[in-house]
Amino acid sequence: MATPLLQVSGIGKRFGGLQALSNVSLTVGTGEIVGLIGPNGAGKTTLFSTLVGLYKPDSGSIRLDGRDLVGLKPHRIAAAGMVKTFQNVALFLDSSVLDNVLTGGLMRHSVEEARALARRCLERVGIGAIADKLARDLSFPERARVEVARALCTEPRILLLDEAMAALNHAEMDEFMTLLRQLREEGLTLIVVEHHMRAIMSLCERLVVLNFGQMIATGTPAEIARDPAVVEAYLGRSAA
Ligand SMILES: Nc1ncnc2c1ncn2[C@@H]1O[C@H](COP(=O)(O)OP(=O)(O)O)[C@@H](O)[C@H]1O
Ligand SMILES: [Mg+2]
Repeated sequence: MATPLLQVSGIGKRFGGLQALSNVSLTVGTGEIVGLIGPNGAGKTTLFSTLVGLYKPDSGSIRLDGRDLVGLKPHRIAAAGMVKTFQNVALFLDSSVLDNVLTGGLMRHSVEEARALARRCLERVGIGAIADKLARDLSFPERARVEVARALCTEPRILLLDEAMAALNHAEMDEFMTLLRQLREEGLTLIVVEHHMRAIMSLCERLVVLNFGQMIATGTPAEIARDPAVVEAYLGRSAA
């Protein structure tokens, strides 16, 4: 069993009358790739936003290496080692790839250091050659990698990916998953939200399923695929 890196316990989050998360608990070990799935509106993005400090949970604790992060600002949580990419990519379109990526490093480094770090991060995700390209001219696969490079520039221990593969075709997804596995080999821990089942099933050794803000199942992809509550959650929504 890997060392638990992230321990999330009893997280609740309410938006007005909507209970977006109820008593969500999960543990992620160092070097794991955990998939977080669930129908639209299940609370996946809300959970990620809560983990990285964009929302303060109403209850529960979030521990990274034993340290409780609840109440810390996002930049403090990033400095502690946890960041997320955004579901709808918001790059500075008129800036270069390098400038977009180096913003991730400015928190802890001078501009010159951040630039050097950004170049290393671009190399790491296989796009060193497009450092000077304008963000608006990127293809979807390039964009997805730039997002990852920008997150890597904060030097995370755990990276939360929110539908980073949404715009990719099957071949592009396979290449992107090869990158994620490589990052894992390099010691990064990942939680991946993805609605492409084929991708998530092949990438993750463990899945967590949310439905209406509650964790309804956790297990290997094979266990999840035949879990009646999970099948019901997906069929129930699509039939509604
Ligand atoms: N900032 C917010 N204010 C109010 N309701 C929100 C907010 N963000 C998300 N929600 C609601 O919370 C629920 C979960 O949303 P979300 O976390 O985006 O789901 P998912 O990412 O699983 O599709 C949805 O019903 C959504 O409408
Ligand atoms: Mg979402």
